[in-house]
Amino acid sequence: MSQESGVKTDEKKQHFDDIYMESTPVPFKERIIDALDYISDNNNRQTFDRLILPWCEKQQGKPIPYVDLCCCFGNTTLAIAHNMTVEEIRENWKDAATANTPLKPRRLNLQTTGIDISQNALDYTKKAGIFDQTIQADLNQPPADKKEQVLKTMTDADILVSTASLVYLEESAIKELIAAFANSPREGYCLVNFLNPFGLEKADATKRILLEHLSFVGSTATRHRRMSALEQENYPGEEWSLLEIWVLKRN
Ligand SMILES: C[S@@+](CC[C@H](N)C(=O)[O-])C[C@H]1O[C@@H](n2cnc3c(N)ncnc32)[C@H](O)[C@@H]1O
Repeated sequence: MSQESGVKTDEKKQHFDDIYMESTPVPFKERIIDALDYISDNNNRQTFDRLILPWCEKQQGKPIPYVDLCCCFGNTTLAIAHNMTVEEIRENWKDAATANTPLKPRRLNLQTTGIDISQNALDYTKKAGIFDQTIQADLNQPPADKKEQVLKTMTDADILVSTASLVYLEESAIKELIAAFANSPREGYCLVNFLNPFGLEKADATKRILLEHLSFVGSTATRHRRMSALEQENYPGEEWSLLEIWVLKRN
């Protein structure tokens, strides 16, 4: 774990926490999207479109509260809420000036909240208008007031997106967050994903928590990104990290 950032990473997986703490998304674009062919968000968007978008369209313009948990610079929300491809995000984040405004407007009447440990990343997303509201918190050990705010936001949300991120959270934190999202009488959908081949036991435990609180809707298996040199050393013979994208709904 990086002492400075508070981000805990599986030791066989590449650490990117310095990138998450930057004040612009440009290093994320250069060192992750470009250097590692980070195509994940095309697949997240396609799964959202297949399994959640039809429900959103049925809301006929009614505001839909939406949360991106561990949102970083909002790349997955640009894909899902702004209907942007990875190529468009890459173009948008080519330098700090172009990154200031999303290339495409938000689709649907989503009321967006971003939650992350990185205040810098959240400041960027707020300034760029990707999130209407942001909450900075270490979700593994939030102070009481932050915890209350985060859990309430989870209960109020009707769409929860958490991509490439549950792996950073302790099981006890995941349980509380998912239980809070599930604890609402309204219809609501959750899109999460699991990386392979990293931390498979943790991913299994996370899946069990999700299934305890929510109903399974559907899933997609895709490529996530290329593995770094360090990761290829740790997992000989693997070139790509793979992704299982799951959609669940409130019971
Ligand atoms: C891999 S990025 C995910 C970005 C995006 N969701 C995606 O799929 O590309 C992981 C994010 O989790 C955040 N994070 C890690 N540990 C956290 C914690 N304990 N509390 C809150 N956020 C955390 C990091 O700051 C980072 O922005």
